[in-house]
Amino acid sequence: MCGIIGYTGHRPAQPVVIEGLRRLEYRGYDSSGVAFVEGSSLWRVRAAGKLAALEEKLAGISPFGSLTGIGHTRWATHGAPVERNAHPHFGGLNEPVLAVVHNGIFENYREVKEQLEALGYRFQSDTDTEVAAHLIAEERRHAPDLMTAFASALRKMHGAYALVMISPEEPETIYAARLASPLIVGVGTGEHFVASDVPAFLPYTRDVIFLENGEFVRITPGAHQVFQLDTLQPVDKKVQRINWDMQSAQKGGYRHFMLKEIFEQPGVVTDCLAGRALVAGENPHGGMQPDTVRLPELDSFPVPEHIHVVACGTSYHAGLWARQLFESWARIPVSPEIASEFHYRDVLFRPGDMVLVISQSGETADTLAALRLAKARGCPVIGLCNVVGSSVAREADAVLITQAGPEISVASTKAMCSQMVMFALMALYYAARKDTLSADQRRVQLDVLRGIPAILERILPGLRDTARELSREFSMARSFFYLGRGQAFPLALEGALKLKELSYIHAEGYAAGEMKHGPIALIDPAFPTLVLAFNDALFPKTASNMQEIKARGGPIIALAAEGVNPPADRIWRLPHVPGLLAGLVALPALQLFSYEMADYLGKDVDQPRNLAKSVTVE
Ligand code: AGP
Repeated sequence: MCGIIGYTGHRPAQPVVIEGLRRLEYRGYDSSGVAFVEGSSLWRVRAAGKLAALEEKLAGISPFGSLTGIGHTRWATHGAPVERNAHPHFGGLNEPVLAVVHNGIFENYREVKEQLEALGYRFQSDTDTEVAAHLIAEERRHAPDLMTAFASALRKMHGAYALVMISPEEPETIYAARLASPLIVGVGTGEHFVASDVPAFLPYTRDVIFLENGEFVRITPGAHQVFQLDTLQPVDKKVQRINWDMQSAQKGGYRHFMLKEIFEQPGVVTDCLAGRALVAGENPHGGMQPDTVRLPELDSFPVPEHIHVVACGTSYHAGLWARQLFESWARIPVSPEIASEFHYRDVLFRPGDMVLVISQSGETADTLAALRLAKARGCPVIGLCNVVGSSVAREADAVLITQAGPEISVASTKAMCSQMVMFALMALYYAARKDTLSADQRRVQLDVLRGIPAILERILPGLRDTARELSREFSMARSFFYLGRGQAFPLALEGALKLKELSYIHAEGYAAGEMKHGPIALIDPAFPTLVLAFNDALFPKTASNMQEIKARGGPIIALAAEGVNPPADRIWRLPHVPGLLAGLVALPALQLFSYEMADYLGKDVDQPRNLAKSVTVE
């Protein structure tokens, strides 16, 4: 949730840390702070609000000359987003002897705080992090050295955390540990980094070490060593090279990351298909073969008899959309599940079940809990995930990487597109293994998929124009319904989520057939409805639901495929994509409508209030 960076090396730490925080700001942004060790002193500057507030404060003081520092952008979990709660927090009985930044939740902090207060520790914040800082300081009073104190304090902390510490006692050293929250070490020449996310230090190094749960690291400019938290035994870790392109993590000329990411979707579809959707005759093992889907990650697993698709938010909507593909093409029953509900239920796993967890970030706490539950119960878990090296990617029995590239905007767009393409490929892959679709039928669907990038490329600019026009026309609306049937229903949920999270206009997605069971009572001339009208067998039913809304004076925008004539006030045309894949061209229209609405209403498009990109707490 929060963004963490630590640096020790040969450069002035302040600009490195601030730059790192800027690249992490999407992880949390209600306050931020930095701390540096300079000789025997510890310096700290913090500010409530966005990073710019911290930078403004720093501009008013002369830069720190320190070569070792830590920084943090916060998304509050304990205590209000005010300066005294911002990280770093100091630890020490009478004076600060160390500073920490922390991501996650220290669950037993209340008991520990009481014990520390009894020992004379004074608290300036409401945070669990300050308790951790004082706890390490207290351990140091009894331990032979800082490292032992750090480890022994962390062993007393229950919960999920990534925690990074500096201290004038070892002015060039940073200690960092993780349990459930991500933490990555960057290995440079004469310098080391630690961060919650790789982009924080990508301009300096591509060589990284992924810390595992229960490990901690000691870094100095010239060395790193990972240890087991429980035993203090050194762990031999492999340094891995990341081939990410930093440019793709920048806005590339667009006003917002979200807009850039929406317009990247044609390329995302192409990238997801590359090497996976093979055209006839391309058999890499020689010989001829029909069009086929190659997903070697799944080859060693039996074809599932039932799939639990588990995710949160937008990823959940993608999972809901996947159900019909698996059912119709591969004849595999699917239960889409909201992760935060799933892992608290007494789920019945049967032989032949598979859990498919979907997560853009690969770090969503509830999704990870579902993954761990399924693994503990002996059910195979496949991860569908966009971040290489993330917790989902590492903990699932197999992982399919979605190839959407870094998604910076808090609102998920291209990730959902990539998940949908991957689901289509998976359903076709299983359809081939089960022989539920003929080679010809599979080729037809693959041809539709292959045609999507060109269609998106062609329609995106026009979709944006119409989205802009409609957003002006409907910007006074206080509420919206989004309706759809069949494959359009998950898209309706997603459209409503996008509108509320970005523009703060209340919006609800419904299965169109459910309107008569209650929601239609809300319809009046001030309550618009956006209806997804695909050119499929369900259209006549959707059209009669529209008539019912019209009869009550409700304004209707129809996002309608070519070939259907919906009874709407405004018809927003989409090209007709046959079969179950029409959602792939409707999705960007919904995203653009929300984007344009939020931008027109002056909202913070890339960082909507109260939200964070990675939701790493339950
Ligand atoms: C949607 O725009 C949100 N960012 C949110 O619903 C998101 O999809 C959800 O938090 C799940 O995230 P994940 O895919 O990274 O697990």
